[in-house]
Formats: sequence, C-alpha cells, structure tokens
Amino acid sequence: MNPALESLFVALDHEPSLDSGGKLAFLRAHAHQELERFKGRLTCAQDFKPRETALERSGIKVAEKMEGGYSLVMLLPERQKEMTLSDLARAHDLLEDGGMLLCSLPNDWGAKRFEGKLKEVAGSVGTLSKNRCRTFWAKKSADWNQEMLTEWRAGGEFRKVVDDRFWSVPGLFAWDRIDTGSRLLTENLPAEISGQVADLGVGWGFLSDFILRNRPGVTELDVYDADGRAIEAAKMNLTGVNPRARVRYYWHNVTKGLNRQGYDWIISNPPFHETRQPDPVIGMRFLVAAALALKPEGKLWIVANKHLPYEKLMKEGFAETSVVLQQDGYKILMGSHPNPIQEMPERKKR
Ligand SMILES: C[S@@+](CC[C@H](N)C(=O)[O-])C[C@H]1O[C@@H](n2cnc3c(N)ncnc32)[C@H](O)[C@@H]1O
Repeated sequence: MNPALESLFVALDHEPSLDSGGKLAFLRAHAHQELERFKGRLTCAQDFKPRETALERSGIKVAEKMEGGYSLVMLLPERQKEMTLSDLARAHDLLEDGGMLLCSLPNDWGAKRFEGKLKEVAGSVGTLSKNRCRTFWAKKSADWNQEMLTEWRAGGEFRKVVDDRFWSVPGLFAWDRIDTGSRLLTENLPAEISGQVADLGVGWGFLSDFILRNRPGVTELDVYDADGRAIEAAKMNLTGVNPRARVRYYWHNVTKGLNRQGYDWIISNPPFHETRQPDPVIGMRFLVAAALALKPEGKLWIVANKHLPYEKLMKEGFAETSVVLQQDGYKILMGSHPNPIQEMPERKKR
C-alpha cells in the first residue's frame, strides 16, 4: 500500500468539489483500482518505467505530452525538493482557470512544508491529514504568485553540473555531483574493456562517459535506465563523445532482463531503492539480468555500498568472481564466465 496514493482518493471522497467531472491529469501517477472511476477523462504521466508498465497493464494510457486545460491535476511527488516544486508549477500550468491542484505527500517527506509553499503561491489551501500523509489542494486563479512559479519551474530544468561538464536535472541519482562509488569504479575498471558493452542504470551517464572517452576498443555501448529523465540526460551527455562507438539508449526496467544478449562487458552501479524502503533484491536482479545477457566469457563489474549482500549471488551467477576492492564504504565486485541457468530473485511483498 502507498499511503500518499490512498490519501488522494480519501481526499476526493471527502471533498467532492475537487472533481467537477471535467478532464483530469495525474502527474507521477501510480496504478490503482480507484483510477477506474476516471476512465475516459484521465491522462497520466509517469517517467519511471515499472510504474508506467503497471499503469498500462491496468488499462490506463500514459501520455508523452499533456495538453493542458484540465479541471483537476493530481500529483504524487517524488522525494526531491526542486522536483516537487517544479511539479507543482507544472500542475498549475496544466490547469484551466478555476481548476484544482491536488497533491499528496508523506509527513516525513516534508508534506507540511510543501503545503506551506503552495499556500504562499496560491493564497489559500484546503488540507486533509490521513495515513501519516497530508493531502492538500488549491484552486487556480490569476492571483497565484507568478514570480514564485517561475522560480519553481526553473528549479526543475535540465542544467550543466560538475564544472559545467554534464547535463542533469534534480531528482536523478547524485544529480549534481559524481557519486563516490561510481568514481571508484572508473578508477579501477580494466583497461581491456572493449567490444559490446552495457551500462545498467546509466543515470545521467558518468560511467558511460568514462567508458566512451577512455576505452577506445568499445564498439557498442547500450545504456539502460528505468527513469526517462536519466535517459534524456544520458543522451545529452553521451551523444558525439566517441563517434566510433554506437550508443543505444533503452528506457527499460532492467529487473525484467535486458533487451539484447551477447555483451562482452557489463558495468553498473545498481540501484538499491525503488520505493521508500531500501531493497537489495533490485540490485540482485540487475546481477542476474547481467549474467543472462553476457557472452559465455563476458565480465560484469559493479560497485556497491559495502553492506549490500551481493557476494553469494555473484558466486552462483559466475564461474569466477572476486571482491576487487573495498574502500570508503564501497566495494567493487567482478564476475566472469556467467553460469547458464539463473532465475530472478523474488522481491518481498510489501
Ligand atoms: C545508483 S544509480 C547509478 C547511476 C549512474 N550509473 C552513476 O553511476 O552515477 C542507479 C540507477 O538505476 C536506475 N534504476 C532504478 N531502478 C531501475 C530499474 N528497475 N531498471 C533500470 N534502471 C533502474 C536509477 O534511475 C538510477 O539512475
């Protein structure tokens, strides 16, 4: 159960005036059976592939572009301040005059603070406190503070980071810096990396940029990420870096396996979160997906936080494996010659 999502529907029942029966939008939408009631007048947006797939499976179309003129825009923000503020501004922009903006956040993600921010912009808000979440709403009018909205919009735009070297956007992993673990991996990757390579969970592209610049024998590089904005940033950062290497971009859920087989090398700094709870099974599924997609003599190199329990699976998944290095709270693991039969580890039901 996602309490912030449940709370949206509680608010809609509690405050029927929120939904005038016109067309409505749901930003950062999650699948839920209650969405059935809006079918035919609902447009959803979702950048994260597993959630997009769940929506499509439940029969809800996910739009690439939103038209605007909605009478109600619902928003379920992610946990990132600039991103949440820019989502609130986007929700405002998509509303018709007099339309309602409805947002739901867990208390421990600063719900009260964001409710206060919306009140500053809109003048007044309605609110409901339930399931350790706050669901708050405001009616669009010409009186909303345009200066603040402009600031919020700008906060969510792509921009150059890391000494103006890379494009990124708030909300991506280590969005405005180089992750210590990823840097450690680049400092230790073998010089002989070449041929067909994949980067699983590319983010804004730090590891792949390194490979393209420093491993001239790489002929193909496939980059995967479930976050559509990560793929956008990676395209901006990797295009043209090494014209001899063909780069393919996959907006894809790696835990379902990869799109292609026969890689010589796979590199990754795997995620260990999808929801709010740390979940090492996601990273384990990355390891299995890699083992399944490598050539028989292929090699996987990953970096992980020291506490993550990947070693046992590496031993099962690869004929040869080692902990290459432990440093600064991270470890680098290597596996080569994948074993043929693997099954995806099961995630715990929540
Ligand atoms: C730890 S970050 C690494 C980012 C980048 N490679 C770096 O080293 O800075 C993990 C990445 O995996 C992506 N990710 C999370 N779940 C995923 C999934 N199921 N399938 C594919 N990518 C996923 C995240 O969006 C994130 O960009």
